[in-house]
Amino acid sequence: MRIIKKIRPSTIIIILIASCIFLLTRCIGDSGNSEEKATARDEFKKYTGSKVCASCHKDIYDKHILTEHYLTLAPPTEKNILGSFEKGKNVFAFDDVTNITMEKRDSGFFQVEYNNGNEIRKGRFDMVVGSGRKGQSYLTWVNNRLVQLPITYFSPAAQWSNSPGYPPNKIVFNRPITSRCLECHSTYFEKISDPAIELEQFDHHKIIYAVDCEKCHGPGAMHVDFQSKNPGIKEAKFIVNPRKLTREQVLDLCTLCHGGGQLAKIKPSFQFHAGDSLSKYFIRNKAALNASNIDVHGNQMGLLSLSKCFIMSNMTCINCHNTHQNENGKVALFSQRCMTCHTEGHVKLCKMTAEIGPAITQNCIDCHMPKQPSHAVSVFLQGSPAPTPALMRTHFIKIYPEETKKVLAYLKGPIKKKL
Ligand code: HEC
Ligand code: HEC
Ligand code: HEC
Ligand code: HEC
Ligand code: HEC
Ligand code: HEC
Ligand code: HEC
Repeated sequence: MRIIKKIRPSTIIIILIASCIFLLTRCIGDSGNSEEKATARDEFKKYTGSKVCASCHKDIYDKHILTEHYLTLAPPTEKNILGSFEKGKNVFAFDDVTNITMEKRDSGFFQVEYNNGNEIRKGRFDMVVGSGRKGQSYLTWVNNRLVQLPITYFSPAAQWSNSPGYPPNKIVFNRPITSRCLECHSTYFEKISDPAIELEQFDHHKIIYAVDCEKCHGPGAMHVDFQSKNPGIKEAKFIVNPRKLTREQVLDLCTLCHGGGQLAKIKPSFQFHAGDSLSKYFIRNKAALNASNIDVHGNQMGLLSLSKCFIMSNMTCINCHNTHQNENGKVALFSQRCMTCHTEGHVKLCKMTAEIGPAITQNCIDCHMPKQPSHAVSVFLQGSPAPTPALMRTHFIKIYPEETKKVLAYLKGPIKKKL
């Protein structure tokens, strides 16, 4: 199986943005270098990690550890690496003589390059990125830098594959992982390299993996300290509850990672805390957005903001998502949330209400937020002439006549089914 990726305009934009970021971080580096380093050093102490939160918020913690946010970055274990290490299933061949074999050795899990049966080089799995809903990539430490390993696991096909964006016939072992990648998949990494150094370096020990409690609530050390010393006080002072933030603040929090590539970084965004304004960290290029160029992958905010629901109400992501819980595929539950607004005497009802009948309450989603192919996450499978895209829900909520036909045909088909 090969992953082939054409250079598309968005890639060029990303490269442009990346070079701007580089230049801008150099500017920042020139002006406030030592001050920034001091802030960075103090920053890690403000965090506790979610295990500490569990001592007082056990119910939330127990559900949180099953979410994709919590599972999106972790040290490797036999269980969380989804691809197989079994003989016969552990090889990705580039040609007749060159392959990468996934091997479990005494010192860990490895991707090993072989040529004509001779070991050429290898990389250890040091971190797993991705819950595996669509796939996982793997990172390895090279001194204090992180690089991505050549082979990725593509979940829709349940196979090892060449990492997305990699040339189909060349093995790449040294693609650097930047803080931008980590900012979306973790809560905190401490950068130890000078801002002027292009290849960023990180502290191996000052890491808060995945999208943990403190990414959405702000660093928690002061809150924990205060509540532990004052068990009689039942009101929190030093922690952010997104429910109490403004609409803009909640949207900024989710957009930090769900706002796609239209964000150009102007300040190290690991310093972004829940409640902050995104515009202090990024320049948003809103003009570049329209329905035809926003991919369903990674830019839920861009798509939602085109929808009438969003434009004509105070909606935020948390009208529909309870982020403490893994609610994947619970279409009826999500439909209940549509009906918190779309009820008699409140916001307009569906025009199809009479035609569909009571079953409508079970599924607004397949007609108005259909699954669409992602252009960004698309791979060539072995023997297939066309690329296989990952399918994702669009957040452009509107009327899709073709989807309606499909859903109605299914409903009224030879064997009448329930929605
Ligand atoms: C020593 C016990 C304790 C620990 C540990 C603790 N909390 Fe709390 N937390 C409380 C109490 C008490 C409240 C106030 C009552 C409530 O809202 O449940 C609270 C409230 C909250 C609130 C709601 C605040 C509001 O304004 O409504 C959030 C969010 C929160 N905690 C997050 C966290 C996070 C994240 C952690 C881990 C970094 C954590 N807590 C660790 C005791 C604790
Ligand atoms: C630090 C980055 C970050 C922030 C902040 C963030 N997310 Fe996510 N979110 C992710 C990543 C990364 C994934 C994909 C995880 C995976 O599958 O590996 C994800 C997945 C999700 C999913 C799909 C999986 C699921 O658990 O149902 C939803 C829904 C979601 N995020 C909603 C939100 C909302 C709502 C907010 C704001 C309150 C938010 N996210 C804030 C990074 C973030
Ligand atoms: C702007 C934020 C952002 C950046 C930067 C980013 N990601 Fe993601 N990534 C996401 C979000 C959000 C999702 C899940 C939701 C989606 O696909 O829309 C995701 C999904 C993934 C998944 C699939 C997880 C699954 O199974 O669902 C992998 C693997 C992944 N990212 C790896 C990476 C790697 C490696 C990098 C850096 C080279 C990176 N991402 C950079 C936000 C980001
Ligand atoms: C992806 C973002 C996100 C993550 C991760 C997250 N929360 Fe929350 N949390 C929220 C949002 C949003 C609310 C407000 C929910 C509401 O009221 O609808 C909230 C509310 C809370 C509250 C207030 C009471 C309540 O039940 O609503 C507490 C306490 C809390 N979170 C603790 C935690 C703890 C502890 C963790 C980690 C184990 C955690 N949160 C992880 C987004 C998050
Ligand atoms: C926070 C309230 C709110 C929620 C939640 C909400 N909507 Fe809406 N929606 C609106 C408003 C307001 C409008 C505009 C109504 C009007 O034109 O008067 C709208 C419009 C629509 C439209 C018409 C769009 C068009 O382009 O004509 C559809 C379809 C729709 N909503 C479906 C949904 C679905 C499906 C969900 C759940 C996934 C949902 N809505 C959740 C408030 C909401
Ligand atoms: C009107 C309701 C609604 C709102 C508002 C909403 N979502 Fe969703 N979202 C959904 C539904 C429905 C799904 C599909 C759930 C499923 O099938 O598991 C979904 C799925 C997702 C997924 C997983 C996508 C996939 O197919 O893998 C992510 C990530 C996500 N939402 C993030 C967000 C973010 C971030 C926001 C705010 C910018 C947001 N959502 C606002 C209803 C909503
Ligand atoms: C079988 C597909 C299907 C399902 C299921 C469905 N809708 Fe619709 N919906 C449509 C179509 C098609 C239209 C446009 C009908 C027309 O213009 O005659 C529409 C129109 C709407 C409108 C615009 C109404 C107006 O007066 O402009 C809203 C709002 C809406 N739907 C919300 C919902 C909600 C909420 C649900 C779930 C409770 C839902 N829909 C379920 C297909 C569906």
